[in-house]
Amino acid sequence: MRVVVVHGGVRISRPRPGGRSRDGEIVDKLMDVAERARRVLLAGSALDAVEEAVRIMEEDPTFNAGYGSALNLVGEVEVDASIMDGSTMRAGAVGAVRGVLHPVTLARAVMERTPHVLLVGEGAREFARKLGLGGDEDLVHESRVSARREALRGALGGGSAGGTMPARDLIGIYGVGETVGAVALDGEGRLAAATSTGGLTLKLPGRVGDSAVVGAGTYADGRAACSGTGVGEAAIVEAGAFRVVEAVGRGLHPRRAAEEVLDIIRRETGREFGFIVVDRSGRVGVAQMGYGLFWASATDEGVEGGIEGGG
Ligand code: GLY
Repeated sequence: MRVVVVHGGVRISRPRPGGRSRDGEIVDKLMDVAERARRVLLAGSALDAVEEAVRIMEEDPTFNAGYGSALNLVGEVEVDASIMDGSTMRAGAVGAVRGVLHPVTLARAVMERTPHVLLVGEGAREFARKLGLGGDEDLVHESRVSARREALRGALGGGSAGGTMPARDLIGIYGVGETVGAVALDGEGRLAAATSTGGLTLKLPGRVGDSAVVGAGTYADGRAACSGTGVGEAAIVEAGAFRVVEAVGRGLHPRRAAEEVLDIIRRETGREFGFIVVDRSGRVGVAQMGYGLFWASATDEGVEGGIEGGG
């Protein structure tokens, strides 16, 4: 059985009036991504499929990844990504890297071409330059410039968020989600997962979230593959994606496994989060505790997609 599941991020704040107007378009885009990744599965591996799915979304400014990434406090793009091959238990990741449109491919290069798992900052950028994987691309999209301006107005006392507030609350208000991810099971029974993001608007320069942390935002082994989205700090301290896979290993359905970990994250951190999961039998789980998780899946039987939760 072959399965690809993709997500376009969980909303971690309530959509503003009119803010749902693009929902249908986003779901359509994700269904297209899932179908294109499924075609990769016909000839390639689960690893190839999740990389391809994430690459497509990194090029689309609709999503907070690659081109279209959220801007940090000083108006720059610093991206995070990770990828894991559950059939070999190998993983690669990059954090807070500038000028790279496809950090997921850079993460795969870390996995396949170095003895390391995680490269960050200027070191990751220089590695990208050496491999011809970018390092000097302009990833700032105009929609993110205005989003950051509005976020700053809120932080400084104006804007719709209304007033100065602690940095922790700013994350909840202005972290728009839209991180992207993919999980897949190929015809050989191999599982893989990948995640990519621009992170949170107004994050501090150098901040690295769960999408670059194997076991937090991304995890895969022989039992299941999982990608997460939400406020990354919560998934890091709770080892979110790893715990979901562990719960599948205890016999839970992937959806139930994701819900169990989301309950823990909510209870212990108060944060919104979401997961997509596929297990070695091809069973799919999509679950969130936020304001809606955009997802789509493709199998040999067809493609489906939607917004999980968030009413
Ligand atoms: N989950 C994306 C981030 O926190 O950066």
